[in-house]
Amino acid sequence: MTDSTKNKIVIAIDGYSSCGKSTVAKEIAKKLNYIFIDSGAMYRAVALYCLRAGLVVDGQINLKALLENLGKIQISFVFNPSTAHNDVCLNGENVEQEIRQLAVAQNVSQIAAIASVRQLLVAQQQQMGRSKGIVMDGRDIGTVVFPQAELKIFMTADAKIRAQRRYDEMIAKNEPVDFEEILKNITERDRFDETREESPLRKAADAIVLDNSLMTREEQFEWILGKAQEKVMRYEL
Ligand code: CDP
Repeated sequence: MTDSTKNKIVIAIDGYSSCGKSTVAKEIAKKLNYIFIDSGAMYRAVALYCLRAGLVVDGQINLKALLENLGKIQISFVFNPSTAHNDVCLNGENVEQEIRQLAVAQNVSQIAAIASVRQLLVAQQQQMGRSKGIVMDGRDIGTVVFPQAELKIFMTADAKIRAQRRYDEMIAKNEPVDFEEILKNITERDRFDETREESPLRKAADAIVLDNSLMTREEQFEWILGKAQEKVMRYEL
């Protein structure tokens, strides 16, 4: 164990679309003074690249063209002091807002199912966690990215509740959205993520399930913080 990793753990938060993983992960990271990385933002940034480059035609990704372009896609993070969040950048451009649009959500899962895309992003994610002290959320964090993570949480909630939360979030940002379209996107992405061959969404054997359908943000935060503190204390002994 090096000095920089001493007493620090890795917290992996996986789960279904729009169940508030990033929100709570960010709050936990702030409380523990850890880095927070939203791995979904990285897949969304790749999807945005594909949309902008015209690599998605009639809802289908041109795989050959994407593989040829993969070397041109640089994903990085930049700290945004106004939100205290690491914003995702695509080839140096901050695209944190743009990647949240429905067009990106509608295409990201097919792009995230491509093995070469996953290899590229997983290697980068593992590098970010090499000194521990990190909270990362996604679909395969506890199973593939950090199988040795000290704390693994698998989050879920009723699909309609998740769709309502995402709808409220987009309405608050003045985005023109339709509830049924969001619900459809969420359920389709869940099905796609769970059934893909490459790193499908599944609960790691040693992950703890958190169903937050009926929990407030504060309750979820306290629940995860309690689990994290237990692990840190055990790790210190
Ligand atoms: O915010 P939301 O829960 O809707 O999704 P996200 O975390 O932004 O992830 C967007 C999509 O990226 C997911 O539906 C997955 O298809 C993919 N993803 C993945 O495959 N692996 C990850 N570690 C994170 C996201």
